[in-house]
Amino acid sequence: MSHLPADARTRVTLPQLHTWHHAGRKLVMVTAYDAATARIADAAGVDIILVGDSVGNVCLGFENTLPVSMAMMNHHLEAVARTQPSAFLMADMPYLSYHLGLEETVRNAGGFLQRGAQAVKLEGGAKRLPVIHALLDAEIPVMGHLGLTPQSVNPMGGFKVQGKQKADALHLLEDAQRLQDAGCFALLLEGIPADLAARVTETVEIPTIGIGAGPQCSGQVLVFHDVLGLLPGTSPKFVRRYIEGFQELRDALTAWAGDVRSGGFPDARESYTLPEAVRPVLTQWHP
Ligand code: KIV
Repeated sequence: MSHLPADARTRVTLPQLHTWHHAGRKLVMVTAYDAATARIADAAGVDIILVGDSVGNVCLGFENTLPVSMAMMNHHLEAVARTQPSAFLMADMPYLSYHLGLEETVRNAGGFLQRGAQAVKLEGGAKRLPVIHALLDAEIPVMGHLGLTPQSVNPMGGFKVQGKQKADALHLLEDAQRLQDAGCFALLLEGIPADLAARVTETVEIPTIGIGAGPQCSGQVLVFHDVLGLLPGTSPKFVRRYIEGFQELRDALTAWAGDVRSGGFPDARESYTLPEAVRPVLTQWHP
């Protein structure tokens, strides 16, 4: 197993992800939305970077992911792709980018690949099979996304754990099978009971990447800003924060603001000086 730092890594590929999965290595995926977050994620050696449509809530101030457009996704994907990460780079198909016809879907997803993504992710079960077939036909690898699918916030009646009823659990197990059989290279399982996610993971050969789906998935994903505690307020139960980023960054900025106000910033080390020979000009010149 390789845990090389990012600068010593080659680009992670789809076959590489499958090799790791079959060797029993847990896959690590995190979201990134711009060059700064992508560089941090890649330097941490994550396996997969997802330019998620969560950019809508996390970076753009929307209440949910529904207003996120292809133009927004392309803008953020391009910023991430410019950093040429070693991690496998994926982009999320936003709401309405794969609902209005197969041709438009392939054009949207193909545009992601032309901008540097290596695969796309889209939400939904068996009803997405025609879309998945069309994408695979255009050589676009697809990760499925089952369970709590945020673009279905309205029919779900909010962001609630899914698959808790017998019929829903069975439906999800079936969907997982159908998406695998259709050719999805992996499944993202969001917001479902851990034992249900474990059973999906046991019954499919492709990797499952969990978020709020317990420890027995083949890998885990979290939103960048959640892992680093960058958002104010409390986090959902499934998030573990590894740093209180919001407080740390706020305190650092508060300290800088204090230094500016007291005249303590900048000091001589943080300033440029005129060459000795040029300095007399300052006193020779008068307005
Ligand atoms: O957009 C997103 O952040 C996601 C998460 C489930 C990882 O799809």
